[in-house]
Amino acid sequence: MIIDTHAHLTDESLIDQVPQLLSDAAAVDVRGILVVATDVRTSQACIQLSERHRELRASVGIHPNYSCQANSGDWELIESLAKHERVVAVGETGLDRYWKDCAWEIQVEMFRKHIRLSRQVNLPLVIHTRDCSAEMLRFLQAESAGGSLRGVMHSFTGSPDVARGCIELGLYISFAGMVTYKNADDIREVASQIPDDRLLVETDCPYLTPHPFRGQRPNKPALVVHTLQTIAEVRQVSRELLAAQTTINAQRLFGAWR
Ligand code: NI
Repeated sequence: MIIDTHAHLTDESLIDQVPQLLSDAAAVDVRGILVVATDVRTSQACIQLSERHRELRASVGIHPNYSCQANSGDWELIESLAKHERVVAVGETGLDRYWKDCAWEIQVEMFRKHIRLSRQVNLPLVIHTRDCSAEMLRFLQAESAGGSLRGVMHSFTGSPDVARGCIELGLYISFAGMVTYKNADDIREVASQIPDDRLLVETDCPYLTPHPFRGQRPNKPALVVHTLQTIAEVRQVSRELLAAQTTINAQRLFGAWR
């Protein structure tokens, strides 16, 4: 069994084909999928979807690039949705210096709300980082003074040092399709070094379609097997062993799919 720990199945390019996507996934043993939200609307949609399909679980949260569009009352809604029985994670949240859609201070404030909620409801964070991985590590180290952090650094592309720092904080590291790209030797190097008990795989679909389908949209959960295969090769283990390890890790972190 394989678990795709980050899929935006409520995206308009995927939502109408969910039954087909799930049967394609099951055909290659992908039998658990975390459906990840980016705002209030998708948080509600992720929950609805996860109620309809037993292999799905949901996250609720507001993505840093949408943090400045949140209306009054949105956060309170996220807090109440986080108590739903199908919700196993808070996010995606984090920090993004690439898109510059929302002011840094607003992203930071929203990220802190997610950290507090994660501790209150005892659910792990799904953490997005773009073009600020060293800053992210310093931020997380400072936040960890207020209590332990649980969660995953999703679609990881940072340095070995940042990975090590996140692991020391107790976090998991998840790799998406980028680890399969020809020019991604640095990401593969990091993937080869993550401890067995902290590694996860994901698609981040509809984005980041893995090699050899790179460039095709939308990406889909079944294609996580290509990411798994690449990581198994660089770690010099069988795909079956890596599937077993990453599945146990996802079950432990999210408390689901058992
Ligand atoms: Ni995402």
